[in-house]
Amino acid sequence: MRNFILVENPLVKRDITILRDKRTEPTIFRSTLNRVSYSIAIEISKSFNLAEVEVETPLEITKGYIFSKQIVLVPVLRAGLSMVSSFLEMIPDAKVGHIGLQRDEITLQPIDYYYKTPKNLDESLTIVLDPMLATGGSAVSSFNSLKQKGAKKCVLACLIAAPEGVDKMNSEHPDVPIYSAALDRQLNSNGFIIPGLGDAGDRTFGTV
Ligand code: PRP
Repeated sequence: MRNFILVENPLVKRDITILRDKRTEPTIFRSTLNRVSYSIAIEISKSFNLAEVEVETPLEITKGYIFSKQIVLVPVLRAGLSMVSSFLEMIPDAKVGHIGLQRDEITLQPIDYYYKTPKNLDESLTIVLDPMLATGGSAVSSFNSLKQKGAKKCVLACLIAAPEGVDKMNSEHPDVPIYSAALDRQLNSNGFIIPGLGDAGDRTFGTV
C-alpha cells in the first residue's frame, strides 16, 4: 500500500480487539478509542517539522523546539468527533474545523451537510480525523473541500481501513499519508469493512 502507515504496538492491538468485540458497550468503546487515538497522534507527530527556539531553564539558556506549522484537526462528523479529545490532549494548541458528511446507505456516496474550518489552511498541517476508511468516498470528499479552501499539507488519521478506501485515497489524493491502526480484508456488499467493528459512529454514540 502506498502512503499507508500502520500504527502498531501491543496496546493498539489489544485495544483494536476490544473495539471489534460486538459486546463492547459505548462507554468502553469510547475510552478504548481514545487510547488508540493517542497512539495514532504520536505516530503522526513523528512527521511534524520543528523549528528551533531558545528556552531559558532555571539554570541556563538551551535549545528547544516548537511546531513549524499550525496544526488543524478536522473531525468528519459524526464518528470523527470520537478522536478529537485525545488529539487535543496531545496537541492542545491545535485549531479544530468540522466537516459534516453522511454516507448514503444505498449509493454509499457521501452527502455534504456542514463545513467550517479555520483560516490559513495553506500554512497549516491539516489532520482529518475519521475512524473508518471504507469506500474512501468520505475521505476523498473531505480532502477535496479542504484543498479547495487552500489546504496543502494534509494527513488522514483513521482507526480502521479497507484496502478499497486506501486505493481510492492513493489515486485521488496521492499526497495525503494515511495513518490507521488496522488494515482489514475488504468491504462487504453493503460497504461495511470486514471483519471490521461495525459502525464506529453508532457504537461511539449508542445509536445502534
Ligand atoms: C461512516 C464513517 C466515515 C464513512 C466511511 O460515517 O464514519 O465517515 O462512513 O465510509 P466511506 O469511506 O465509504 O465514505 P457515516 O456516513 O456512517 O456517518 P456517521 O459518522 O454519522 O455515523
